[in-house]
Amino acid sequence: MTSVRPFCFILQGLLLVGFYQVESGNVLVIPGEFSHWHNMRVIVEELVERNHSVTVLVSTASNTVKYAKEEGFRFQFFSVSHEEHEFSAMWDEMTDIWVQYQNSTILHTVSRVIDLMKNVSAFEICEAMIKNETVMGTLRQSKFDVVLYDPFIVCGDLLADMLNVPLIIVMKMFFGYTLERICGQMPSTPSYIPTHPVRFSDRMNFPERVQNFLQYVMLTTIFYTLSHVQLNPMYSEIKGLKFFGCCCGVLCNPCGLQTPVSLQHF
Ligand SMILES: *[C@@H]1O[C@H](CO)[C@@H](O)[C@H](O)[C@H]1NC(C)=O
Ligand SMILES: *[C@@H]1O[C@H](CO)[C@@H](O)[C@H](O)[C@H]1NC(C)=O
Ligand SMILES: *[C@@H]1O[C@H](CO)[C@@H](O)[C@H](O)[C@H]1NC(C)=O
Ligand SMILES: *[C@@H]1O[C@H](CO)[C@@H](O)[C@H](O)[C@H]1NC(C)=O
Repeated sequence: MTSVRPFCFILQGLLLVGFYQVESGNVLVIPGEFSHWHNMRVIVEELVERNHSVTVLVSTASNTVKYAKEEGFRFQFFSVSHEEHEFSAMWDEMTDIWVQYQNSTILHTVSRVIDLMKNVSAFEICEAMIKNETVMGTLRQSKFDVVLYDPFIVCGDLLADMLNVPLIIVMKMFFGYTLERICGQMPSTPSYIPTHPVRFSDRMNFPERVQNFLQYVMLTTIFYTLSHVQLNPMYSEIKGLKFFGCCCGVLCNPCGLQTPVSLQHF
């Protein structure tokens, strides 16, 4: 251990020197809502502190990101056809599904998710973001160096692709760790790591392991199905690809988008 320490100090020193030589960059941030935004905000504030130029892209119906407020960074907003209270009701419903998950049957949960998707589809938000020529024009002119994006709001990867800018994803826990595993290359051992929403502790007996494993399989299937139904049409249209057989449009490389770098925090 002791022999490693001087090396660490030297490395740290080099990193610090490196930091001061980095020129400030131009960052586009696509945040999620609630705790997702509060987490992302810490990163945004640190970037601003280090003199990077930050633009936060947000919809007019956002519940937590107040684009009219004066901040140390810029906002770029895009209009959506829904009102703020409709989004708010949607997030409430989603939270309730999450909380009630343990006490509901799987069919009931799935049918609630489908009902929710019918009201506000991810497709609509995606469309409002990337099909607004005024907004896209402004974003292109801004010549960003990097896109920092929370997959909570879908399509950020597609947007980065359209702007031809590298992508970094910032994630928080997701149902069955689907985003983290499929998009963030997080390793997982389904029979040992209890998945979200948590039913078990880290000490599971055999039947619990089987159940936990099945929960992974089920949530992964739901994730693929929803992204296929909701997003593939949009990704196909923009990228001009036919996705027959491609299981998902969101963040997956099979769809021809760049592989993102991922940051995970809980
Ligand atoms: C940011 O810019 C200000 C003013 O130009 C400067 O005083 C400060 O040292 C810079 N901060 C960093 C971290 O480079
Ligand atoms: C695009 O977004 C802007 C706000 O940035 C809005 O004023 C405009 O109406 C939107 N255009 C369309 C076609 O929705
Ligand atoms: C789930 O059911 C149990 C037992 O009926 C109850 O104690 C618990 O509060 C319920 N949880 C939720 C989130 O409703
Ligand atoms: C869908 O929208 C309708 C009408 O606005 C509303 O009554 C209903 O509760 C919504 N359902 C969900 C699941 O959000």
